[in-house]
Amino acid sequence: MSSGKAFKVLVTHPEVPQAGLDLLKQNCEIIQVQSLPPRRAEILEKIKGVDGVFWGGHEPLNAEVLDAAGPNLKAISTMSAGIDYVDVAELKKRNIPLGHTPTVLNTAVADLTVGLLIAAARRFHEGRSKIESNNWESFHLNWLLGQDIRDSTVGFFGFGGIGQAIAKRLSGFDIEQVLYTTRRRLSKELETEFNAKKVEFDELLSKSDFIIIAAPLTPETQGIFNATTFGKMKSNAVLINIGRGKIINQNDLYDALKTNQIFSAGLDVTDPEPLPANDKLLTLPNLVVIPHLGSATTRTRSEMSTIAAHNVLRGMVGEPMFAPAY
Ligand code: DGY
Repeated sequence: MSSGKAFKVLVTHPEVPQAGLDLLKQNCEIIQVQSLPPRRAEILEKIKGVDGVFWGGHEPLNAEVLDAAGPNLKAISTMSAGIDYVDVAELKKRNIPLGHTPTVLNTAVADLTVGLLIAAARRFHEGRSKIESNNWESFHLNWLLGQDIRDSTVGFFGFGGIGQAIAKRLSGFDIEQVLYTTRRRLSKELETEFNAKKVEFDELLSKSDFIIIAAPLTPETQGIFNATTFGKMKSNAVLINIGRGKIINQNDLYDALKTNQIFSAGLDVTDPEPLPANDKLLTLPNLVVIPHLGSATTRTRSEMSTIAAHNVLRGMVGEPMFAPAY
């Protein structure tokens, strides 16, 4: 029986924030995946014949999904900024517009990055472990000394909206300068605003006290932080990754931290996710790891849901998406 609504939209996750669902409901019949974590078989079954897809999780979005959907499919949006799990070439080949949800998560991710940076620089994880193992030795005057942020050089591997939101926050910590590597140079105005200078990758590595990875995962960035690059970094360097886990070769990171080749690291993203509880990274005192929490605030996730819904709605009627991925 027809619902009388103009479009059928599949929502691939049972926990998508309500704001997006409310928007879709106005004009669409919603079919929602109920399994948790979402079972691929259920997605492939329910996607048949839909007009639009709200891709709520990070499962591979590829030809198999598009084939299962069939010829009615007009638009898809992810509820994430990163689209590394999407076969973009396949979508383009079929002329299916793809939306995503960048920008709206910049401040949440930037706040979290500053927290991770301070935690790694000031040895929060190691300090907590000392308490738990009954080794609180503050009678030493030089116990658990960390790195200052003031007067430091902060290097950004990737300096888009998220990187700039982080730099804005860090300027309040009296840093000396920002270095960055990106494909395109920022405008003079933005460089002046952030006291930022575009440099070659090697210079970023050798001069930065803090290096923040705020770039997407692409064939070019995969594994670019490895034994060679760690060898070029300062021994006091703190490495933060809020991009994607695969940008770092984690075995090499383990070695660099274990041998104190670099001072410490803070990761919000790992390879794989979830990181197994027995991963050797978790034995390192000088590593802070959190489970991909960058955009995990109630408001941000709700706004991501809203933007993804707008993307799907606009895409289905052939209008430009709110945040097109290409
Ligand atoms: C994103 O949106 O890409 C963040 O990593 C959260 O998934």
